Amino acid sequence: MCGIVGYIGARQAQDVLVSGLGKLEYRGYDSAGVAIQQGGSGGGSIEVRKKAGKLANLAGELAAHPLSGTLGIGHTRWATHGLPNDTNAHPHATEDGKIVIIHNGIIENYLTLKAGLQSRGHVFRSETDSEVLAHLIEEKYNQTGSNLYEAVRLALGEVRGAYGIVVTHADHREIVAARTVSPLVLGVGEGELFLASDVPALLAYTRQVVFLHDGDMVVLGDDGFRVTDLAGNSLQRHIEQIDWDAEAAEKGGYDTYMLKEIYEQPVALTNTLIGRLHDDSGEVNLDINLDPGSFKRISIIACGTAYYAGLVGEYLIEQLARIPVEVDVASEYRYREPLVSEATLAIVISQSGETIDTLEALREAKKFGAKTLGVINAKGSSMTRELDDTLYIHAGPEIGVASTKAYTSMVSAMLMLALWLARARGTLDETRARELLHAARELPRLVEEALAPERVEHIKKVAEKYAHSRDYLFLGRGVNAPTALEGALKLKEISYIHAEGYAAGEMKHGPIALIDADLPVVVIATESRLLEKTISNVQEVRARAGKVIAVLSDGDTENAQHADDVIYVPRAHEMVSPVVNAVAMQLLAYFTAAALGKDVDKPRNLAKSVTVE
Ligand code: F6R
Repeated sequence: MCGIVGYIGARQAQDVLVSGLGKLEYRGYDSAGVAIQQGGSGGGSIEVRKKAGKLANLAGELAAHPLSGTLGIGHTRWATHGLPNDTNAHPHATEDGKIVIIHNGIIENYLTLKAGLQSRGHVFRSETDSEVLAHLIEEKYNQTGSNLYEAVRLALGEVRGAYGIVVTHADHREIVAARTVSPLVLGVGEGELFLASDVPALLAYTRQVVFLHDGDMVVLGDDGFRVTDLAGNSLQRHIEQIDWDAEAAEKGGYDTYMLKEIYEQPVALTNTLIGRLHDDSGEVNLDINLDPGSFKRISIIACGTAYYAGLVGEYLIEQLARIPVEVDVASEYRYREPLVSEATLAIVISQSGETIDTLEALREAKKFGAKTLGVINAKGSSMTRELDDTLYIHAGPEIGVASTKAYTSMVSAMLMLALWLARARGTLDETRARELLHAARELPRLVEEALAPERVEHIKKVAEKYAHSRDYLFLGRGVNAPTALEGALKLKEISYIHAEGYAAGEMKHGPIALIDADLPVVVIATESRLLEKTISNVQEVRARAGKVIAVLSDGDTENAQHADDVIYVPRAHEMVSPVVNAVAMQLLAYFTAAALGKDVDKPRNLAKSVTVE
């Protein structure tokens, strides 16, 4: 959840840390801090600066009173234990200020560890779970004759939980880091080394990276790095070349990452689909080694927006491949004792590949013998290392907290998966397969069209008209019922307007009571088998004086008469329409939040990657 950066080399560490933390602020922004070693090896000291609030607070202070030094660690926090204030901000230091740590994750047994440490005279300053790590490492450091690596290793042997931890000591020109569950990447430069919780923090300096695995430790010094496991055995880890450039992770001229990512969708979708669809033969090639005939049911598991992509997937797979599918929110899946067997294919969907609920649900499914497949964006992420097979969506780095391009790429990947399964299982003939492949191939162009300036301008006007509403309702049917859920989620997370998404036919069983002249109701009523039924639902809203914002296919003037406002979207095959319709939902949410002056890239209380349960 939190962002981590570390540096050792010849540059001023402060510059590297502040710029790296800027790239990671989406991970958490309750507070930020840095620690920079003064004076090099032996007898040195470490200066710590930390501040509550966004990184700008800390950066301002560092600009006014810079810290000099070429070894340092930095952190942006997303609070789990203790309020977001200066004291609870990382880094945390021992009482003598010699050992300094930053931590991402949760130490589950911290209360027991803390009680023990306190009884042995350690004085704690913060309310965090992380501070125990500093004190525990100090104890081990004293026991091991001042061996920092060994101290960290022994301390972690007593820790239960999730961590990406980075440690330094005033008297050693080295950084020691380790990870379990929480991600950590090493960046390798010319005579310099970097550490980060995510790749974007490194891209301005190097594209040579080592993705550390669960249970890895790494020691960084001026003469290079070495990786070991937690038992102290040396490990070989490959240096990989990352092809994202720094520009791809920047805002690229847009006001916000979210808007940039909305506009990146035609490219993201091209990357998702490219090389995988073969219209001539009606085949889909996904480079998946799993045998599509070897399972009898599918369990889709995900959180948030990815879960809604899973709901679209359920519809598509059942329709096309005729396999029973169930979809679970990952945090529920683990604890409901799901019926899983070797004939189950568990599909996890995740942008980050790090969401702890999804990761743990994946482990649960594996435990019962399920085959596992991931629909994942982040290369090298924790999930990808535990899955039997991964279908990368290739949407590129997504920085905006509200997921946009990853969602449409996930939905497109689920469509490809449904087609692949259907073809392999003989439930889809070649003619219909070709028709659907063609529709999928059209997606980048249709989304490009959906982003035409006049359409965007119109959605902006509609958003502004209703921006001061207290509540919103979103309705959709069939394959677009999840689009309504996603529309409501997007709106509430960035504009803070209360919004509900419902299957349109379900409205009369409850939510209809909410309808009055102050309630905008977005109805997704694009071309489909169920369009007439959806329009009946529109009439029900109108009859109760609700304000209807209808999302219609281009040219549908007939149904426009039932609506107060219409958002036209390019005509698309019903099976691919959730992708095109989602773009309208994203823009509506975006311009509503913008009209209300909200910080869409950093919505309150949210974090991009949720690595705590
Ligand atoms: C909403 C959003 C979240 C994520 C959820 C899962 O816009 O981004 O709901 O979809 O936290 O994240 P991943 O896909 O990284 O597992």
